Parts: sequence; C-alpha cells; structure tokens
Amino acid sequence: MQGKRILLGITGGIAAYKIAFLIRLLKKSGAEVKCIMTPASSDFISPLVVSTLSENPVGIEFWNKDDGTWNNHVDYGLWADIFVIAPLTANTLSKMASGSCDNLLLATYLSMKSNTVIAPAMDLDMYAHPTTARNLTQLESDGVEIIPAEDGQLASGLEGTGRMAEPETIFSKIEDYFESRKDPKIKGKKVVITAGPTYENIDPVRFIGNHSSGKMGFAIAEKFLADGAEVVLVAGPTKLNLEAPGLKLLRVRSAEEMLAAVQAEWESCDYGVFSAAVADYRPADVAEQKIKKSDEEMSIRLIKNPDILKWAGDNKKDQILVGFALETNDLELNAQKKLNKKNLNFIVMNTLMDPGAGFGHDTNKISILDDHNNFKSFEKKSKKEVAKDIIDYLKNYNS
Ligand code: C5P
Repeated sequence: MQGKRILLGITGGIAAYKIAFLIRLLKKSGAEVKCIMTPASSDFISPLVVSTLSENPVGIEFWNKDDGTWNNHVDYGLWADIFVIAPLTANTLSKMASGSCDNLLLATYLSMKSNTVIAPAMDLDMYAHPTTARNLTQLESDGVEIIPAEDGQLASGLEGTGRMAEPETIFSKIEDYFESRKDPKIKGKKVVITAGPTYENIDPVRFIGNHSSGKMGFAIAEKFLADGAEVVLVAGPTKLNLEAPGLKLLRVRSAEEMLAAVQAEWESCDYGVFSAAVADYRPADVAEQKIKKSDEEMSIRLIKNPDILKWAGDNKKDQILVGFALETNDLELNAQKKLNKKNLNFIVMNTLMDPGAGFGHDTNKISILDDHNNFKSFEKKSKKEVAKDIIDYLKNYNS
C-alpha cells in the first residue's frame, strides 16, 4: 500500500484502543495515515498515541483553540484515497445515515471524494436493534462498504455479534479495496524510470554535476508502484531511497552507466519515463590522479554524452515513452522539437521561471504536450500530485 493515503476516523467505543494496531499495520505497509477522532473517542484512546503512531497531527475539533488554525474537512476529503471509520459507534452510524454534521468527522464524511469503509462495533443488543440494521442498510445503499462486526466476547461481558473486526481483517479489506481498483493499464506493467543527476568525473575527487534532487522521478516511481506496476528505477547520485515490493533500484553515477542500465531493461518494458537531468557533456579524459593547481587558467575538454532518451526512442517498439523538458525560454517550441527528435509519445514540460517548480523543490508546475498535438496545463502541485497527473495522462493516452 505504498503511498496510499488512508484517513482513519475513530469514534467513541471501547474497540478504539485496537486502532493503534491498525495504524501500525498501515504504516508498515508504506501507507500514509491521518486520523480524525470524535471528541468522545479520546476517552478510549489518547490522541497522543494516535498522532505518534500515524506521524501526523490528529483532527478532533473544527478549529484548534491554541493557535487559531482550523481543520479543513474539505482538505481531508480531497487528501484521502479512502476513509475508514473504525470503530463506528451506533451514535455516529445514525448521524451518518441522517446526514447530521455536528463534528469534524461527520463533516469530513460528507466532504469525502473517495469511498468510505466502516467497521461498526457495539454491544450485541445495539447491533441487533432494527434501527442499527436500518442505518447500515441506508449507508450501504449510499455506497459505503461495511466490514461487519464479528462474534465473540464483548466488553460488557456478554457474548454475541458486535465486536469490531480485528485490525488484521480491516487491513486486508483495505488492501482488497485498492487491489480491485488498480488500473489494468498500469497493474503488472513494467516501467523504467530515470531520475536524479549524473556525475561526470574530472579526476578521482571532482566531477561535473547538477542540482537535480531526483524527487520527481522517485515520486513517479512511488505512484507507479502504488498502482501495481513493476518498476526499474535508474537513479543517478541522490540522497533519496525507496524500498518496495516490485521495485528494482539501480544506482548509477555517469550518463554512460545510466545508458547501460536502461539498455539492459528497455526491451522488456511497457513504459519509459525519463526524468533524469543527464549531463550533456563529460570530460574527454578523466585524470587518474587529483589534478594539481598550477596555471592561472585551466580548461577541460568536454565531449558529448549519449542521449539516453533518444536511444530509447530510436529503439522503441510498442512502448510508451515519456520525456521531460526543462527550459528557460521558448518552452513549447523546444519541447515540440524534442518530442519529434526523440520519438516520444508525450513530453512533460517545466520551466525554471515558475516559482517553486523544478530542481530541488517539493512542488512542480507542468504542462504536457503529446504526439497528437494535445496540450494540457496543470496547476502548481506537490511532486506526488504531479506524478499522479503524469500517470493519469498515460492511462488515458492512446497511441
Ligand atoms: O535534450 P534535453 O536534455 O533537454 O532533454 C531532456 C530529456 O531527455 C529528459 O527527459 C532527460 O531525462 C532526457 N535526456 C537523456 N539523456 C541525455 C539528455 C537528456 O535521457 N543525455
């Protein structure tokens, strides 16, 4: 569940203490977790525990009285890939069924852009009550997925149906949810991604490099993996790391090494996304010993590096190939030329002129031009969201 955004809603039932285990399972699987609690639930599990395990602030009230900031239910609704309410009490269930909205959790439920899953938990008589059955039927017909309560011993000492499904069960339902929604255009496909800078050695201690952080390529890799693709990430020198099932991370240093890695993988790939900032030139000769300073001036003779993206374009069969264009002027004209010259299916353009876009930043502002002359501009967004836009474009692209 690498990179999936799970919004957990916790209501005031004794089973709330078990949510700590669910959060652990989700975090271990690579998901991002944010939690919203009803005020009553903090009697059953401390917000500090929830916040510490989820590594995010917890939303309880609409606004935080200490610093005057407010918790925006609309933002929660946009952020989440799924809203899981566990445990769900009879009280919150009835409010959800009637559209009541007197706390942050309920307002978020009404603002959700993606699906909601509930794990009810209550005493057996409450669970068996016709009102509860009616409310559950109502939610089901509203599109909410129900993880039924289980049989067993209840906190009241009674035995019967009403126990919240175990955290492991809820976790595997969430996994199934995402599994069933994976796009066949991405799931099981193999993609090669280049990322980061290349370093071209001058001597044993010096090199020619650039400011690329690799963040964009790593975000693209993460999103492909989350959507079920098999990813070969060929990364130039970067501090970033990524570990995930389905990922082959090949660390390289120079353009020549990057080319060799791509050449070994390209034929078996379905897609290529080349976001690396490859050095255009490298020193013609690499000194074996550290170059001593002597004269007032020195020059280094540079020779052209291989164009890795062009090589992939020239050796393309049915693959979809995506390149990047970082320009400081005549962006569209230069992008169009690159698209043709390198035989690309589409090109992602960004310019260093846009504040917050490009090298080192966490945000990027892109536009996409494809080989059918379609052009699409996007807002400035986080690199994670930009990765989603690029992959969505690929899903809808017809060659
Ligand atoms: O020609 P230019 O360097 O501007 O093209 C940028 C695109 O080409 C990027 O997608 C980049 O990853 C790729 N590229 C490459 N090998 C090079 C130079 C650029 O793969 N030597």
